[in-house]
Amino acid sequence: VPVSRIRNFSIIAHIDHGKSTLADRLLQTTGTVSAREMKEQFLDNMDLERERGITIKLQAARMNYTARDGQEYVLNLIDTPGHVDFSYEVSRSLVACEGALLVVDASQGVEAQTLANVYLALEHNLEIIPVLNKIDLPGAEPERVKGEIEEIIGLDCSGAIKASAKEGIGIEEILESIVHLVPPPQDTVNKPLRALIFDSYYDLYRGVIVYFRVVDGAVKKGDKVQFMASGKGCEIDELGILSPTQIQVQELHAGEVGYLAAAIKAVEDARVGDTITLAAKPAETPLPGYAEAKPMVFCGLFPIDADQYGDLREALDKLKLNDAALHYEPETSSAMGFGFRCGFLGLLHMEIVQERLEREYNLDLITTAPSVVYQVTTIAGESYEIDNPSHLPPANERESIAEPYVKLEMITPESYVGTLMELCQNRRGIFKDMKYLTQGRTTLVYELPLAEVVTDFFDQLKSRSRGYASMEYHVIGYRENALVKLDILINADMVDSLAMIVHRDKAYNVGRALVEKLKELIPRHQFKIPIQASIGSRVIASEHIPALRKDVLAKCYGGDISRKKKLLQKQAKGKKRMKSVGTVDVPQEAFMAVLKLD
Ligand code: GTP
Repeated sequence: VPVSRIRNFSIIAHIDHGKSTLADRLLQTTGTVSAREMKEQFLDNMDLERERGITIKLQAARMNYTARDGQEYVLNLIDTPGHVDFSYEVSRSLVACEGALLVVDASQGVEAQTLANVYLALEHNLEIIPVLNKIDLPGAEPERVKGEIEEIIGLDCSGAIKASAKEGIGIEEILESIVHLVPPPQDTVNKPLRALIFDSYYDLYRGVIVYFRVVDGAVKKGDKVQFMASGKGCEIDELGILSPTQIQVQELHAGEVGYLAAAIKAVEDARVGDTITLAAKPAETPLPGYAEAKPMVFCGLFPIDADQYGDLREALDKLKLNDAALHYEPETSSAMGFGFRCGFLGLLHMEIVQERLEREYNLDLITTAPSVVYQVTTIAGESYEIDNPSHLPPANERESIAEPYVKLEMITPESYVGTLMELCQNRRGIFKDMKYLTQGRTTLVYELPLAEVVTDFFDQLKSRSRGYASMEYHVIGYRENALVKLDILINADMVDSLAMIVHRDKAYNVGRALVEKLKELIPRHQFKIPIQASIGSRVIASEHIPALRKDVLAKCYGGDISRKKKLLQKQAKGKKRMKSVGTVDVPQEAFMAVLKLD
């Protein structure tokens, strides 16, 4: 087909507003996949994604559609991940499009996440087509939601499409709108090749598979190409389109979307956002806006059984092949032994990696509490970043510490404004803005330290608003604060993996709450265990766990063997997630205690 009949679009939607269901419908209506194949949702195909019901990685699908004007069009749907951790990938996939469907659940309304992605789309001059989904629901209020979109985003909703992805209502109208409203790509087939990578994954047999949009020029099977940011080069073994299964072709032109395989060893060599060009006739400049996704959240991962250290390294190596944003390096902790310090884009990314390590690689791990990256300047005038609180130099060597701040936007029913403001205040938030929307819904804007958000902020927001509030944030820069290192001593041993960096004004309360929580979480031993929180050499809070009473033991020695066995088994089970710190067994929960202090 000529470029004039290609349409590249993505779908912007808040989690659960029906993006995947709509995508399936579009594939089905255009006959791209049959109803039988459709049993499984096509676009999200990672197990974890399906289980959690969220889109993590993006995918693409090419559809052929004969419009009412009798012409055949090629519609390329480029899916976007639905979570803030992956916002960089969202922006790359939007850049690969000329238009976007804005899907809003007509029984709910606009959410914070949607907003962020719409602004991104507007920034890139995408044509936005509003779709009010789930109009089959009795609670659907399309007119109210229209008003909301117009008011918040300033988008004309007179042509908004009322749809039900589930019932198949409005699907043809959506397809026609894509054809008529989304502009075709520019015909720049005569320019040197520039193709934007919007996704890549590692395949065991073919190496890295790269998904891209050809922006300028053309690319053929057998071409020698170069990735402009990574500098890596390779020869294309396989070229194809995504329909949504991979179908090989010989050549792809400006405006088209496809994939290539070229014996690339790790996704790191062909990262999202990089520009592909021809080695023989390279483009002068790459496509704009490549930025390496930087890890924002770090934690320690330690095998419970020291023998699993090698397995853990292998598993991380393997995950890394497919996840360029995952960082890790060996870490030795006096309390935990050998493990890895790992960096993630955000909390969800961190949880996903942990889950995969445990599930797919059968590892038993202890995870330490997440930390952000601090910028430290010493009195000697040196500046560097630390991602591990235990590496903070002592107070008398520090000139300053700066921490990352985020701009946080929340959308909430009016009745929860008070409690959410209180939450932000408790988290050292600085109030920036508040706007009333339609129907008693409100947007709240705060600036606050990332460290206060990566602890249980999201859970708090959800529980305080009974699930009705949504949030979105992005990092806006570093600010100096009066931060101190809080150390935890268990049985007089300093536990490096429990050290944390807190604001001086909060140190006392956090220290107090933490020792109380640890007292609750660490089981009794045969001996008394003191637990202390200290800043430098000054103890600011202390508790102790009393020793087990003797008679409990006496009982099991006295009696029948099976009962004793049972008791031991029970203990063994409880031990599964324990790490010995000195002579004290500390359970996994204790390392995460700081997330549960409120
Ligand atoms: P992410 O993948 O996390 O972005 O979520 P999503 O936006 O893809 O949502 P998904 O398509 O998985 O739909 C979420 C839920 O809404 C599912 O239970 C769907 O069956 C349901 N749903 C989707 N569209 C409709 C609709 O038009 N009407 C009704 N009643 N339910 C719908």
